[in-house]
Amino acid sequence: MISVAVMGYGTVGSGVVEIIDKNKKKINEKAGDEVSVKYILDLRDFPGDPHQDKFIKDYKILVDDPEVDIVVEALGGIGTAYKFTKEALLAGKSVCTSNKAVVAEHGPELLKIAKENNCTYIFEASVGGGIPIIRPLHTSFTAEKIESITGILNGTTNYMLTKMDEENCDYDEVLKEAQAKGYAEQNPEADVCGYDACRKIAILTSLSCGKTVHYQDIRTEGITNIDKADFEYAKKLNSSIKLLGLSRMENGKCLCIVAPFMVNEKHPLSMVRGVFNAIMVKGNMVGDTLFYGQGAGKLATASAIVADIVDCAVNKGKTIECLWKDEDAILADDSEKYFSYFVRVKKNSFEEISKSLQAEKVLDSENDEIGFVSKKISEEEFLKIKDNYEAAIINYIRILDC
Ligand code: HSE
Repeated sequence: MISVAVMGYGTVGSGVVEIIDKNKKKINEKAGDEVSVKYILDLRDFPGDPHQDKFIKDYKILVDDPEVDIVVEALGGIGTAYKFTKEALLAGKSVCTSNKAVVAEHGPELLKIAKENNCTYIFEASVGGGIPIIRPLHTSFTAEKIESITGILNGTTNYMLTKMDEENCDYDEVLKEAQAKGYAEQNPEADVCGYDACRKIAILTSLSCGKTVHYQDIRTEGITNIDKADFEYAKKLNSSIKLLGLSRMENGKCLCIVAPFMVNEKHPLSMVRGVFNAIMVKGNMVGDTLFYGQGAGKLATASAIVADIVDCAVNKGKTIECLWKDEDAILADDSEKYFSYFVRVKKNSFEEISKSLQAEKVLDSENDEIGFVSKKISEEEFLKIKDNYEAAIINYIRILDC
């Protein structure tokens, strides 16, 4: 018998219990043993829930119970989730989680503790929800040097940008709708400011290079400045606007950024619409690969966690290796990042700014402004020019190479 304790009976935790109930036979076959939920930790009461006998309110019960093999951390947040995870690992229990905040902040430390205690810290569901991406990065790409990862890693913002693109909606209008539908939180900062995508690209890049990329070091720009007019220009460029998490591995350095990008309609990521996520991984031998699916949602996320539970069950008493060292990766600085930029400027400043940015393509003027595409220049140079002409630049969006 493999005993599982689920910490947190919210959307994801209850999804894990539901999947273990519904797909019991298949899961047990794959695990080679019966997988059974022994405890559900939650401070709330769930009257009428069929698992009444399993609810506990004190995490010590599950940490101290030698019968518990695997703990699911579906608490969310950092403080308590980190503390409970650490204690479970120190007690030799494997921990499966979707909590990207804890993984991005404490990943290498928790992996080390797991190894020292012959158990596993595993987090397939922390990036891309139900999309298999972390396991493929580890196993299927063993023979590869990863050259780049380009991802639509946040479903909420992709839903909002798709709506703005297809229905010509305003940012505020679409945010309200996303909140009403339950995609965006009442405080939407983590999604719309790019923080969620930032943690996800930090995790994927760390796993690809085997060293730690601190999410705090990644330039992160959200979608809050994107407006209707940007989409009109995007159409003229045969593009859509996507919030991307991007990392390129070149000359032993990682170039990472999270920002809205103009994505040409020929690029596969331009076709990813609504709440869906997609991640393109380029290996030096295999070339481009694309992973697509639901990046969030109860059963999609829980499905990835249950797959991790099965992996831990099969490897009971051992550590599933994860090559992510507690050693800082070298990040490329702004002088080493080159992009073309789409820039909107006030008409009276166009001559000067377009010369500085070496405009290559000028788009029809709209009202009192002109849009243009700059030559490829370094991020350092661009930011300097942007700061110089702060008052005259209405907006700018980087352009993704096709
Ligand atoms: N808020 C996240 C998203 C949930 O919208 O993608 C999954 O991490």
